[in-house]
Amino acid sequence: MQKKITIDQLRPGMYVVSTNRSWISLPFFRKNIPNQRTIDKLRKAKVTDLVIDLNKGVDVEVAIGNTEPLPEPGSPAAVQKQAEQAAQIQTMVFQQTAELMEEIRAGKVITEEQADQQVGLLMDQIFEDPQSMLCVSVLRNSDEVVFDHCVNLSILALFVGKSMRLDEEALLNLGKAALLHDIGKCMLPKEIINKKGRLTQSEQEHLRQHVDRGLAYLGKMKNVPAVIRDFVGQHHEFLDGSGYPGGLRGPQISDYGKLACVLNAYDEKIHRDSDGAAVDPRGALEEMQEQAGRLYDPEALKLLVDCLGPYPPGTILMLDSGEMAVAYEPNPNQPEAPKVLILTHLDGTFRDQPLPAQIGQAAGEENLVREIVTPMTLEDTNFNPLDILAKYGPQSA
Ligand SMILES: [Fe+2]
Repeated sequence: MQKKITIDQLRPGMYVVSTNRSWISLPFFRKNIPNQRTIDKLRKAKVTDLVIDLNKGVDVEVAIGNTEPLPEPGSPAAVQKQAEQAAQIQTMVFQQTAELMEEIRAGKVITEEQADQQVGLLMDQIFEDPQSMLCVSVLRNSDEVVFDHCVNLSILALFVGKSMRLDEEALLNLGKAALLHDIGKCMLPKEIINKKGRLTQSEQEHLRQHVDRGLAYLGKMKNVPAVIRDFVGQHHEFLDGSGYPGGLRGPQISDYGKLACVLNAYDEKIHRDSDGAAVDPRGALEEMQEQAGRLYDPEALKLLVDCLGPYPPGTILMLDSGEMAVAYEPNPNQPEAPKVLILTHLDGTFRDQPLPAQIGQAAGEENLVREIVTPMTLEDTNFNPLDILAKYGPQSA
């Protein structure tokens, strides 16, 4: 349940859904109000009215006098709280995006500001806890694959944009471009865009119209920046001219178009909702690296590879203990030592609950330090690691 309050009623422990100021004017502040300092910052930013969510935070009466200490930064409790928050934010943005796209389906013309809020939430969380957010970016929330794909591409795009040190406005535009990149699919029949399995020739031709339809829709919106149009219009263009709708070649494709193509291809490969079997995340990057320079821009691909590390979230790993694990969080300081969920016991039987661990650090009842022997492919296993992450990570870590 949501409740309107004033800034004078705001207290630590509340969960803020929205304010009278746009998210972009309040960069990167926490939705879970942690302390008085955050309240002071909001007051300084001229926030006067807010909407709080009583299911996710405390109510006005409860909050007054609330002195429950926040977990120590970096402690297991704090890490778990951050991971839960990342999953909540993704779900929340997914729901808002679904509502936005239903408006588009109904023929309404949305404004850029409507997308600002979702991207602002993602940006906020990415700056707060980047690695948990990267983990949730590989998860699907529902059968509405377009919405999931758009939200997850926005997370990936913001990640890459952050690594490029884009300024706030450029980052917001990149996140919005990714969120809206498949907007044209809202104008196509749901049976085609949500179809599981391979599309027929005519369905494929129908689906390809989504790029031009998306561009036409952006044309109805006011003052859409060129970078957003480039991203939306060129996300299926390959360097060798074999893409669509324009069959553009290398120099004809903008930098944002090249990045859009790389991000879009990666998310599609690890899910392959409408085009055959999925590939594991590391395998997807390897496939793309083989086609760098022919289909994918090498520089854009490197940006993504550098963000995801050698063991992207969802990669299945064989450990030196003989246990099987799935990577869930890259470790930028030590790329070879990601955080993992260990799926099996030492005797090879599956654990009831995966064991969170960091490669190279002792964990579990045996206090064992594990190393990676080799990554595995989906063919080596009879499960999809993304299903494991959806069920247990990162919120179980
Ligand atoms: Fe697309």
